[in-house]
Amino acid sequence: MTKYNFDEVIDRRGTDSIKWTKKHLQDNFGEKESIPMWIADMDFKVAQPIIEALTERAQHGIFGYGHKSDEFLEVVVNWHKKRNGWDIEKEWILFTPGIIPALNFIVETFCNPGDKVIIQSPVYYPFANIITNNGCHIANNPLILNNDKYEMNFSELEKIAKDSRTKLMFLCSPHNPVGRVWTAEELQRLGEICLENDVLVISDEIHSDLIYRPNRHIPFGKISEEFMMNSIVCSSPSKSFNLAGLHVSDIIVTNEKLRNELNHKLTTIDIDPGSFASVAQIAAYNHGEEWLEQLLSYLRDNLDFIEEFIKERIPRVKLIRPEGTYLAWLNFSDYDFTELELQQIMQKKAKIALDDGYIFGAGGEHFQRINFACPRSILQKALESIEKSLEGIN
Ligand SMILES: Cc1ncc(COP(=O)(O)O)c(C=O)c1O
Repeated sequence: MTKYNFDEVIDRRGTDSIKWTKKHLQDNFGEKESIPMWIADMDFKVAQPIIEALTERAQHGIFGYGHKSDEFLEVVVNWHKKRNGWDIEKEWILFTPGIIPALNFIVETFCNPGDKVIIQSPVYYPFANIITNNGCHIANNPLILNNDKYEMNFSELEKIAKDSRTKLMFLCSPHNPVGRVWTAEELQRLGEICLENDVLVISDEIHSDLIYRPNRHIPFGKISEEFMMNSIVCSSPSKSFNLAGLHVSDIIVTNEKLRNELNHKLTTIDIDPGSFASVAQIAAYNHGEEWLEQLLSYLRDNLDFIEEFIKERIPRVKLIRPEGTYLAWLNFSDYDFTELELQQIMQKKAKIALDDGYIFGAGGEHFQRINFACPRSILQKALESIEKSLEGIN
């Protein structure tokens, strides 16, 4: 067994990392030396088998056009079976260079300008941009915060879904930023409402390998045949294995008619996996599970560390403990800050680059999102800086 060292601090500057680039930090967070805890990638080196596979591929030296090889499709099928007990077929898998591009292609393919797409704020902010930049309207079904736990508002969802202009729903499962791993009952209810009202469910499951037990991820399409036919599941190894820069994602479309329509779009644009994307995904899914399990245990310890720190040293901040993802949602509403004041305290006093809650839409105003996929020493420094920035504030 290889024992991975997630405590190792690796200097990412000089690698074109948007998270760490001084200019980006200066321009967007007002401080070039801030501790970057924002965008969702990890400060950990990937599993050794991925490095070896990519090195071998690089040594080959020719990087012409790629294609979705049978091996590539097979590892995706096996992964879903192994991790979530979900049976899919190779033919159902379409390739896109990321889930954001996929969501764009989906809206372009299945919506007309003026149509409505449901989202559940606070939610991953590019959802809103994708909808409005394609001439559609956001139909918001805000989540409800009930005793530090987020829940879906089904009665409102029913009303929104009934509108004949509502065509799609972007489901974030697990949910970024609130960290919910939706239960079978919740998904069942949501799926029934969408089915009854002819709303196609687009289930973004990019965080689905990052789940803390006893929670379990349930792929939307696994619930029933009907749901499978009324959904598109977006999956990817990029969060689980830290491969975001390689641009890889698998779009699972069981329904042949929908698949043909989406595939037509993809064929027009002519996108195939890059030379390194499929190599990395195959290595990750075939040989990366040992690393992934050790990662999950490290992330859980980081989460415990945050929880303890907050409880003991900054108890007015409330942690919404995530059931999945490496993103924690911090509630500052006990302080009377405006959105701008909270932002300035984090950026200028604490000198930490966090994602402001308000960018995730209604309900995010008094929150900050912290990415805790980093060595514990950095996490500790960040939390101490937050503590210091709040000293003396009533
Ligand atoms: C819910 C969600 N969807 C999609 C993405 C981005 O996906 P990609 O990099 O594959 O475009 C992220 C990245 O943080 C995310 O959190």
